[in-house]
Amino acid sequence: MRVHARRESTLTLALLNLFLLLHGVSSYTEFEISVPTHVQMGVYGETVHLSCVFPVSGSWDADSTVITWQRNLEVVHSFFYGRDQPQYQSQRYANRTSLFHQEMKKGNASLRLDRTTLEDTGDYTCSVSTRLGSQRKSFPLKVAAFYPEPRLQISVLSDGHMEVLVTSEGGFPSPSLQWLMGNARDVTNHTHTQLSKDHHTGLYSVNSKLNLSGTINSSITFIMKNPDLDQTIRRNIDLFSENGGSDQRSQRAGLIGLSVVGVTLLAVIIALIILRHRMMKKEKSRNPSETNIESSEASINEKSSRDKAESVTESLIKKDLGPGG
Ligand SMILES: *[C@@H]1O[C@H](CO)[C@@H](O)[C@H](O)[C@H]1NC(C)=O
Ligand SMILES: *[C@@H]1O[C@H](CO)[C@@H](O)[C@H](O)[C@H]1NC(C)=O
Ligand SMILES: *[C@@H]1O[C@H](CO)[C@@H](O)[C@H](O)[C@H]1NC(C)=O
Ligand SMILES: *[C@@H]1O[C@H](CO)[C@@H](O)[C@H](O)[C@H]1NC(C)=O
Ligand SMILES: *[C@@H]1O[C@H](CO)[C@@H](O)[C@H](O)[C@H]1NC(C)=O
Repeated sequence: MRVHARRESTLTLALLNLFLLLHGVSSYTEFEISVPTHVQMGVYGETVHLSCVFPVSGSWDADSTVITWQRNLEVVHSFFYGRDQPQYQSQRYANRTSLFHQEMKKGNASLRLDRTTLEDTGDYTCSVSTRLGSQRKSFPLKVAAFYPEPRLQISVLSDGHMEVLVTSEGGFPSPSLQWLMGNARDVTNHTHTQLSKDHHTGLYSVNSKLNLSGTINSSITFIMKNPDLDQTIRRNIDLFSENGGSDQRSQRAGLIGLSVVGVTLLAVIIALIILRHRMMKKEKSRNPSETNIESSEASINEKSSRDKAESVTESLIKKDLGPGG
């Protein structure tokens, strides 16, 4: 069935090419079409316009114009006898392509391609044949996807170590990652990064983990780039610790304030503070003599303006911390 369909479309293509050729033979005037000269970028899931312009003089005759768009051997869109001919196009492009019919008389053979996927990447050829002549030209299209706002998760391990985990799902191609400590020292080599590919969409999910020893005063910067789309996500995470912490107990309770640029990250961090606060409250009622924790709790109230945070992010907490928290 598949083989049959493919053979049929190849045959169609051969006929179209022959048609273009025959049209071209009769014409010796300059007939120069123009297409982009560099790689075109499409954004995953969105619409991309592929430009193609052909010369027109005086009156333009739709019936004697043939416009064909191909990706390698696949027919993306074809137009002849004055109308679109969707029956000849590859199924992959069904209902996703259109030409600008109103603009055609001005020599505009540009293609609109909707809901781009990573599989749309490739060399596109625009072929135009009119009474004035015919020509075909190709250029590459690349499709990339923006990485969504990363999620942040901070875990304090029982041995006093702290893990900072950043996750972002659904981008393309693979991003470049960088972690800075104190805004200058590159600690990327001390992080663990995993990349996984969604087999259906081909998009990448990335998670990157930084391992910190204890709750020290530090400013961490996370930078993720997708150069294909000029995308840069840069987020700062400031960690404060009230005391140097000699015993583990007070170290854990000493995580007092966090400030971050970025709405999602901020919400997660405020949520974290509130959760910690509740946890400590419970702990306190179980163990009222733990003075270290009590004093830390007072600081939390002061420093993180808990009341405001709680009313704003109460509903975000469950969602953002979800299964991970
Ligand atoms: C394209 O749209 C038509 C009509 O809406 C529909 O019958 C057909 O299944 C669609 N084809 C694809 C591949 O989505
Ligand atoms: C072709 O027409 C479309 C739709 O109006 C427009 O966006 C595009 O700029 C036109 N291309 C040229 C080269 O005029
Ligand atoms: C990270 O490691 C690579 C090789 O493993 C090395 O070339 C690079 O200089 C290191 N970067 C830093 C900032 O230490
Ligand atoms: C974090 O680093 C410490 C030592 O620096 C190590 O003991 C611990 O296993 C590390 N944790 C992870 C998850 O890598
Ligand atoms: C962190 O900084 C605060 C003030 O900015 C200071 O009071 C505290 O002692 C510092 N903690 C450590 C572990 O250096």
